[in-house]
Amino acid sequence: MREDTARSRIVLRNTLREQASPYDLRGDAHAGLSSTPKTLPSKYFYDARGSHLFEMITRLPEYYLTRAETEILERESGRIVEAFRPRVLVEFGSGAARKTRILLDAMLERGLLEGYGPVDVSAEASRNAADALTRDYPHIRVEGVIGDFERPRDLPFAGRPRLMAFLGSTIGNLEPTHATSFLTSIREEMTAADGFLVGFDLVKDIDVLERAYNDEAGVTAKFNLNVLRVLNRELGASFDLDAFRHRAVWNAVDSRIEMHLVSVVEQFVRIPSIGLDISFAAGETIRTELSHKYTRESAGGLLQASGLGLESWCTDRSDRFALALARARSV
Ligand SMILES: C[S@@+](CC[C@H](N)C(=O)[O-])C[C@H]1O[C@@H](n2cnc3c(N)ncnc32)[C@H](O)[C@@H]1O
Repeated sequence: MREDTARSRIVLRNTLREQASPYDLRGDAHAGLSSTPKTLPSKYFYDARGSHLFEMITRLPEYYLTRAETEILERESGRIVEAFRPRVLVEFGSGAARKTRILLDAMLERGLLEGYGPVDVSAEASRNAADALTRDYPHIRVEGVIGDFERPRDLPFAGRPRLMAFLGSTIGNLEPTHATSFLTSIREEMTAADGFLVGFDLVKDIDVLERAYNDEAGVTAKFNLNVLRVLNRELGASFDLDAFRHRAVWNAVDSRIEMHLVSVVEQFVRIPSIGLDISFAAGETIRTELSHKYTRESAGGLLQASGLGLESWCTDRSDRFALALARARSV
């Protein structure tokens, strides 16, 4: 299905309901909530409310990630753009595309900017970002995909020199084997002219990490609980949001922050539309998000295993976050 907005420079192709789409709330909810431990994929956080809550998270004092990545982009975007001289920016998990503007500005200043290709499951965030960007960049064409980046096909602007960006440490939300298969499929879509820019959140002091996902204002807790609202609305589930609470903890073995929803009491939840009755013991959790933290070595290994050659590695002044610039290795 093609979705042309009123604005003539925006084309957003909605692939969420295509048969081959890995965006399958019914199937994923059934599989994840029947398994032990119970899990839900984090991509289902991002309805309009979830996308808005995530934007609020990026502004929280505890959530250093966005500020650290912005600092690197402000310092390095000219050099990144010079390295590949891309005509278009394709971005996975683009969301509100605020940091994106730093790269777009660097392309514009060099007379290179032609287009922007966001790929995101959030229809609301994609439409808002496309509207704002076409308003502020009068010559830009937006050709995006409202869809799941996990099986990238027919990426926007094929044939043009592209910088592919995967910012916000969203790579950390994928299990390492899954991250490797995702990056490998991106690499297969890349030509020798294309660059790939990916943001990694780095291993650091556990208190700093845990605070970033347990903010005092409780915004991350609302974001986490939002997935239960999505299940109630989309699948007719009977989750009582007051009967679950947010927990985010460091898992040292797997080098990741895990977000959970903890059942406060023993309870049963019904999801009749997918034929599921779920029982929870008091204290039992649903694991809702993984945020893997990398070192230079582990990130380099991931890129290497995906057929990507590291061109440069830049960190913020406090070594909290890194941007890796890579190109497809010839095989
Ligand atoms: C952690 S946020 C990062 C947003 C933005 N790039 C930033 O750096 O602030 C993750 C973004 O990826 C999107 N997303 C998550 N899983 C996705 C998936 N499987 N396919 C496409 N988009 C996804 C969400 O809608 C959200 O916009």
